[in-house]
Amino acid sequence: MAKRNTSFICQACGAVYQRWQGRCEACGEWNSIAEEPGTASAAPVASGGARLKKGRAFALEGLSGAAMDAPRLAAGIAELDRVTGGGFVKGSVILIGGEPGIGKSTLLIQAAAACARGDGRGGARCVYISGEESAAQVRLRAQRLGLADAPVELAAETNVEDILATLASGTPPRLVIIDSIQTMWTEAVEAAPGTVTQVRAAAQGLIRFAKASGAAIILVGHVTKDGQIAGPRVVEHMVDAVMSFEGDAGHHFRILRAVKNRFGATDEIGVFEMGGQGLVEVPNPSALFLGARDAKVSGTAVFAGMEGTRPMLVEIQALVTPTALGTPRRAVVGWDQNRLAMVLAVLEARGGVRLGQHDVYMNVAGGFRILEPAADLAVAAALVSSLADTPIPPQAALFGEISLSGLVRPVPQAASRLKEAAKLGFTTTILPAGAAEAARQAGLGVKPIERIADLVAEIAGAAPRRRER
Ligand code: TYD
Ligand code: MG
Repeated sequence: MAKRNTSFICQACGAVYQRWQGRCEACGEWNSIAEEPGTASAAPVASGGARLKKGRAFALEGLSGAAMDAPRLAAGIAELDRVTGGGFVKGSVILIGGEPGIGKSTLLIQAAAACARGDGRGGARCVYISGEESAAQVRLRAQRLGLADAPVELAAETNVEDILATLASGTPPRLVIIDSIQTMWTEAVEAAPGTVTQVRAAAQGLIRFAKASGAAIILVGHVTKDGQIAGPRVVEHMVDAVMSFEGDAGHHFRILRAVKNRFGATDEIGVFEMGGQGLVEVPNPSALFLGARDAKVSGTAVFAGMEGTRPMLVEIQALVTPTALGTPRRAVVGWDQNRLAMVLAVLEARGGVRLGQHDVYMNVAGGFRILEPAADLAVAAALVSSLADTPIPPQAALFGEISLSGLVRPVPQAASRLKEAAKLGFTTTILPAGAAEAARQAGLGVKPIERIADLVAEIAGAAPRRRER
């Protein structure tokens, strides 16, 4: 049988097909399948007709052998080190994804400069390889950020073989930044740069170098419209940590979030603010998110949330208005649409709040994104407050999960949430009955809520300006 030497690969998920088709059956993406030279086999770098060599026996080791601790290279940028789990682990590979212009290159040149200068204990050899900008452009940015004196080694290169040869010469580098993996190409495969095959092969070469040399490598990855790291998901499986750098164009702050981390927790975030001097750490994000708050209006509630081990207070805003449409609108920014639908349904069914004739808009202030179900109670409170046109006391912090039965359930880490609220000057709390004792211990007033109906009564019942309906 004649051997096929081209294959059709989905550029979104890496699935391989024998012939072209309009839609990838594996991931459902349309028009993502492209013809690529090379083998159709799963082995990515097995080039053309090369003869496979005979296997070589290698020594196996026990788990208790010479303790392979994970020496880390701390950048000395606390928000970054928090997300990596205390620094870049020797020999590890991190993939950082983010939309164009979000500040990935800025963050990484700052990190490279900090490591090279030794802000976080002892200077290390740091190499920054830019495949997108020229060396002059990177240098210009570094000068503007006041990093020009840092001994970072810089090059604009895209060929993986050349890069590896350069890195292997001289003192082994401790940190290598590849900006971005989509621009890299290796001679091992024929496909064009940016294709799944190339990205995968280039990443593989770099990962092999990291493991062999002990250098920590950071790969920058582009993301597609829907937030996936473009190209193959396989790269995400190959690396030790995947981080996403988020934020939206209308706001100055940026969040670095660990999506996968073999050497640390995945629920940690680092908060930065983009300014004229590059990215600046935000050690107290609650103050930032609560910044310009109009406490006297109805429809806002402060949620005492947690991001990993860090408590974070954010304002939740809701607007409930009579609808002019047959089907009322439900729009949500910064939270899960389905979760909002659930809270609305529980409010209707268990709290007696009629929302069928109302449009509902919900927003998390500052462009922040909440992932916790613990925000249920704060969302419900904001909705009821808007509907009843009654402000929630401005010094009240809220948290609690709502179950479908209308019960308000306790959430983890209540003590940390309460401590943060007290620190920021909140004096009272609206929370699940189970957490009332903890709130008293933190020196805060308490309105314990057992069922959703209690919350409705608490807010709307106390309404001097309640709208009769
Ligand atoms: P960049 O790091 O190039 O983004 P990415 O590598 O993710 O594509 O960031 C570019 C944006 O950041 C650009 O829109 C300008 C802004 N920026 C500042 O606001 N201040 C600064 O000091 C720098 C360096 C960039
Ligand atoms: Mg960039």
